[in-house]
Amino acid sequence: MNMEHLFKVFFLRFARSRMANRWAKRYGLRLGASRFVAGETIEQAVEAVRLLNNSGRMATLDYLGEFVSSEAEVREAAAMCIRTLDAIHTADIQANLSLKLTSLGLDLNPALCQELMESIVSTASDYGLFVRIDMEDYSHCQPAIDLLRILRQSYSNVGIVIQAYLYRSEEDVKVLGAEQVNLRFVKGAYQESAQVAFPLKEDVDANMIKLIGMHLISGSYTAIATHDEQMILEAQRIIANEAIPVSQYEFQMLYGICEELQLRLVRDEFRVRVYVPFGVDWFGYFMRRLAERPANIWFVLKNFFK
Ligand code: FDA
Repeated sequence: MNMEHLFKVFFLRFARSRMANRWAKRYGLRLGASRFVAGETIEQAVEAVRLLNNSGRMATLDYLGEFVSSEAEVREAAAMCIRTLDAIHTADIQANLSLKLTSLGLDLNPALCQELMESIVSTASDYGLFVRIDMEDYSHCQPAIDLLRILRQSYSNVGIVIQAYLYRSEEDVKVLGAEQVNLRFVKGAYQESAQVAFPLKEDVDANMIKLIGMHLISGSYTAIATHDEQMILEAQRIIANEAIPVSQYEFQMLYGICEELQLRLVRDEFRVRVYVPFGVDWFGYFMRRLAERPANIWFVLKNFFK
């Protein structure tokens, strides 16, 4: 096991520490987290989106929430999602909403989670906005897809994320592609066992491009969410070879990461959407960004000693 892998495991475990998450909530954005998190309030997030829009980039707003332990917290998280949709509509910015089902009570009370999702997706539909269900760890994958399919019986403005590291994803893409579901493709950010996920990066990369190709060719809307330039080039090759219309796909990247690449794609007339997280519950998200690139630790240390 090399150092990089050890750091990765450490950060992913730390992301799940309730004590560290509580500390982070109490003391506000620290350790340089504001490079990856747009602020603690909706107003700050809207301002960040405005700046992105001014440079030709769209956004998806995510109100961060890692642990919920009561129905009251779940209802508050849902209310924040609705307030975020209201703010997008009122500010007239180019953005949609991303959310995590566990923060809406998927583990605590699945029936309540479904009820809250119906109200969020319905509000978004009234505003002509789209809602993306982020994908969390493997244990939540099937329940998230089940809920998506229930929602899609009444609404078309909801989609989900496919993680290329999971063996099951090819089957999911076949089924969801046949239903023309709008999918975001990512490599996958959680710690999973070799029983459910490809352990080797090259296998994840190969699967990602295969799945993106399948979905583009099925005619369904495809969000290609990666900072990996090789992956982007390979997706562009499929797009050119298959003459995929520009209205059928977009590139997505995370707030604060590979800014130059984002702007270059805009200059080349590709659609680019930036994932903009905000809120006081920033710690878990921040740790997952460090896990992806342990070199970011130097950046944290610099901020620690500032
Ligand atoms: P890869 O990890 O190979 O990185 C390629 C290059 O990008 C690196 O060499 C580096 O230059 C740069 N880079 C990547 N991560 C960086 C970082 N943290 N800091 C600085 N530079 C970095 N995951 C998930 O499990 N569920 C989800 O719902 C989502 N949602 C999501 C939305 C969007 C818009 C994006 C872009 C990503 C996600 N992810 C996600 C995260 C995803 O699974 C993955 O962990 C990251 O995107 C990193 O993988 P790359 O595809 O960028 O490739």
